Amino acid sequence: QQQRRLVSRQRFVQDFSQCLFEFVVQLLPTTEEMAVKEDVRKLLERLIRTIEPDSRLLSFGSSANGFSLKNSDMDLCCLIDSGERLNAADLVTMVGDLLERETKFHVKPLPHARIPIVKLSLDPSSALPFGIACDIGFENRLALENTRLLMCYASVDPARVRTMVLFLKVWSKRRKINSPYKGTLSSYGYVLLVIYFLVHVKNPPVLPNLQQMPPLRPISEEESHLNGYNIWFFDDIELLRQRWKSSNTDTVAELLIDFFKFYSRDFAYNTGVASIRAGLLKKEEKGWQTEQSDFGTSRERNRLCIEDPFETNFNVARCVTKDGLYTIRGEFMRASRILQMRPDRAILALAQLCE
Ligand code: CTP
Ligand code: MG
Repeated sequence: QQQRRLVSRQRFVQDFSQCLFEFVVQLLPTTEEMAVKEDVRKLLERLIRTIEPDSRLLSFGSSANGFSLKNSDMDLCCLIDSGERLNAADLVTMVGDLLERETKFHVKPLPHARIPIVKLSLDPSSALPFGIACDIGFENRLALENTRLLMCYASVDPARVRTMVLFLKVWSKRRKINSPYKGTLSSYGYVLLVIYFLVHVKNPPVLPNLQQMPPLRPISEEESHLNGYNIWFFDDIELLRQRWKSSNTDTVAELLIDFFKFYSRDFAYNTGVASIRAGLLKKEEKGWQTEQSDFGTSRERNRLCIEDPFETNFNVARCVTKDGLYTIRGEFMRASRILQMRPDRAILALAQLCE
């Protein structure tokens, strides 16, 4: 009896891994979509250079870190290399006016946001059946660096890391728990939860801690720091691929099942901070105790704590409310339950997960 159960479990895990790979491959952007996006980036860069000749427009976020899905938004960052620089709010206003005049994009400048950005969108057309949405920010060099960090993690073990992350992004969108504006978690937050799990929870670990590996040569303070934050990490991907051999042989299905189990019941939500840089930290030591608010949940911070890899005084999950966390954990539990019940067919489990 027990033997039979074990065999059927093994078969489920194998099938489920295969289903995950096939599912995720369909979700990747086409080369055509990527080419259109690159053209848009170049066009915008050319226009912005008419007011800031020394500027560069760079991609960050999913279009640059290897975790992009079909029709995902473009995140762009404008860097200005010359000495004289306007502040971000003024740039947002100026670039907003320019793009309003010169392009067909719908333009919405947000000069007073925490990170000032220009929001752009294009309506769907036959060439672009889903339109395009794009945010342009200014001088956000830390975001470029954290994008590079995520990209390096993705390339250490692409089969397992990218499959898990892409699946979780789709799953969290379908289950409607991927909206920081509505009290749940950003894609960036979910990616950090996956990396934390693969570096610090799984034993043996699936991924090395790139921020704690010894550098190949001495690094000066100036090289390693940006705006006072330590942004150094081991980024020689070729060397990493040669040297890092994880002794963890779990399949992607096993990892995903464990991921849901861990975040359903084992993570110390009340006291813990997930840090990919330093492992499990205490809310107390970071001064991130949950703020009780008399005004309901709207002002609440620090229910869920995920330390930004570089901006260590920033809680990436600060927008997650009490209700939001309750919903997210509920979804982790639901996913765990579906995968425990092991229906005969893995494909059905996958469909049910993303319903
Ligand atoms: N970012 C950040 N701090 C945050 C949120 C986001 O620095 N609190 C930066 C990160 O560089 C991240 C990028 O913004 O890679 C985009 O974040 P997000 O849109 O959440 O992730 P994507 O991978 O772009 O996901 P999606 O495809 O859902 O847009
Ligand atoms: Mg994005």
